[in-house]
Amino acid sequence: MASNRNLLMLPGDGIGPEVMNEVRKIIAWMGKKRAVGFDITEDLVGGAALDKHDTPITDDTMKIALEADAVLFGSVGGPKWDTADFTKKPERGLLRLRKEMDLFANLRPAKVFDALVDASSLKPEIVKGLDIMIIRELTSGVYFGEPRGRHVNAKGEVEAFDTQRYTAPEIQRVCAVAFELARKRRNKVTSSEKANVMHTGVLWREEATKLHKEKYSDVKLDHMYADALAMQLLRAPNQFDVIVTDNLFGDILSDEASMLTGSLGLLPSASLGAPDATGRRKALYEPIHGSAPDIAGKGLANPIAQTLSYAMMLRYSFDLGKEADLVETAVENVLKAGYRTGDLLVGKTDGTKKVGTQEMGDAIVKELDRLV
Ligand code: IPM
Ligand code: MN
Repeated sequence: MASNRNLLMLPGDGIGPEVMNEVRKIIAWMGKKRAVGFDITEDLVGGAALDKHDTPITDDTMKIALEADAVLFGSVGGPKWDTADFTKKPERGLLRLRKEMDLFANLRPAKVFDALVDASSLKPEIVKGLDIMIIRELTSGVYFGEPRGRHVNAKGEVEAFDTQRYTAPEIQRVCAVAFELARKRRNKVTSSEKANVMHTGVLWREEATKLHKEKYSDVKLDHMYADALAMQLLRAPNQFDVIVTDNLFGDILSDEASMLTGSLGLLPSASLGAPDATGRRKALYEPIHGSAPDIAGKGLANPIAQTLSYAMMLRYSFDLGKEADLVETAVENVLKAGYRTGDLLVGKTDGTKKVGTQEMGDAIVKELDRLV
């Protein structure tokens, strides 16, 4: 369906293409039933691009991404490319997209569906009703800091090094996103670093505090060392509303938080740039899970994280909150009705129905039909 919404789809590797196929069904449904269409371009990224073009993302694909209204991304990587040159690793495709699109704010919600409280590895009373939002800085820190590399040092030893760097404006802009979001939620931000051992941590804490005082003193702000936060996430996760942290801590803490919800296969994410003069912001949406090579191609993968990433795209890039609600409600109802992909079959499983990727996708579309 022709539209003024340009979408670049990058399914990538492993389970990426399979779960993206299920989203295609929902996109078709939205076109037919809600007149929400997209001009879709599809392209290769990660190992798939490496195999064909000898690079994990081509300049042409980068150009399309920079011009698109939104990018819907699957996952990249797999054992096939483990020996690829470091600069050509599938993951570099994703990192280049994040960096060149300047997607500095990565929103990673961790929400526990009532139907899945028993799938969490934590006790139901600890995770019930959980709804936290981790905001991970995505374009700086140790992922990109220079110098990085390896050499033989003065003692003749092989030495590898990465550099953690943050500028004050980089910290401020991601903290601002956290404060703004907290105002629409439960009004609380926990800023996390290791100011006890890292200079970047000290600066992070100072800048968060300064910004809070200047512009967001109506929001409650706490600081917590990242190691303590990792512990508190397991002890009492409900104390958190919005968590804001750097690139590496955010990577780790968001994987941890995802397990509170029962499975990595459930969680979406949105990576956002700064709004331009017209309010438009570059954006990429991707599940938190990776390419899961062990189950790829078997029809076992859970398409929910990819589906919810599409819902986040409707909400954040196209202001289609009602349609996003519809998708989220359909997912919730399908879980309530007992549909479970393998990753969700832990804990109490009575009353559940084991399904594969396509059946889960079909169930979501069927539920959408029922809802409207
Ligand atoms: C993530 C992933 C990526 C990261 C990889 C695939 C580069 O783990 O999005 O969390 O480390 O950021
Ligand atoms: Mn990760």
